[in-house]
Amino acid sequence: MQLPDQAEILAYLRSVFPEAEWNLDEIVSFYKTIGIMNPSGRPYAAREKKLFEVIFFASHVVRCVENISRTRETVLLDCGCGRSYLPFFVNLVLRKKRRNITYIGVDTELDLIKKSYQTAEALGYMNMEFHQSSIIDFKPEKEPNIVCALHACDTATDEAIARGIQLKARFIVAAPCCQRQIVRQIGKASAEVPELKPFVETKIAKEYVGVALTETLRKLALESCGYKVDMFEFVPTRYTPKNIMLRAEKKQAHNPESLRAYQALRDYFNVKPKIQDFLPELL
Ligand SMILES: C[S@@+](CC[C@H](N)C(=O)[O-])C[C@H]1O[C@@H](n2cnc3c(N)ncnc32)[C@H](O)[C@@H]1O
Repeated sequence: MQLPDQAEILAYLRSVFPEAEWNLDEIVSFYKTIGIMNPSGRPYAAREKKLFEVIFFASHVVRCVENISRTRETVLLDCGCGRSYLPFFVNLVLRKKRRNITYIGVDTELDLIKKSYQTAEALGYMNMEFHQSSIIDFKPEKEPNIVCALHACDTATDEAIARGIQLKARFIVAAPCCQRQIVRQIGKASAEVPELKPFVETKIAKEYVGVALTETLRKLALESCGYKVDMFEFVPTRYTPKNIMLRAEKKQAHNPESLRAYQALRDYFNVKPKIQDFLPELL
């Protein structure tokens, strides 16, 4: 795919966030500082997908922020933050909207945490903190109202969803990276569930079933815990095939009907989703 030029990126930003003022010099300087563009202002080929993933993902996070009263402190926990492209971009958009929030990034990799601090300093963003920890063990000092995870690896997405539920976050927004755990399990389960056999005979069918099953189980797990969940493609497939988003908002204490549906689906496919290791109420 041909790399987008600066004018195209600016047009995207204006279409996704029409109410914000966008200036070409400002965004080129921003993307250079966070390491998505090279010194001559072109996106690095390896990070171009990330640029678009972040723009589209951020639009959902910004919508969550706008649903939280300005009188409340807004805290965003980004799980598996990596180089923190997402929170830096969300911060850029929210500064334009004169909205201050606190960002907490968590990642197991210390060098990425150090890099995120350096970038935050270079941008002058003082409202951000980054911690080296696994997602599930992380204990934030402030309660997050929004927990998000953009392509946290495999079951790290389960950790993010479960931690969001445990921390009683009002919003949980996740775009999973891959569904390897369940794909592996349905391979084994097909020995005992004859109806599964045709699905696992071809690699592509097995992966599609694994993706659909993983994300449907995650959606039902969230619903069981009282969240209303939308599941949809958040970014055009030409930018990334990893484009499923689960966007959840807490609405009620529990939903027994969704719990029954979760357990029935899990048992039919004879799988043990990682998420229930962290949420015993699903067992
Ligand atoms: C594919 S990267 C995505 C990074 C970032 N969210 C982005 O979109 O650019 C996944 C990140 O999750 C981190 N990670 C994986 N498992 C984790 C876990 N259990 N707890 C915390 N971080 C984890 C990895 O170190 C990596 O930085």
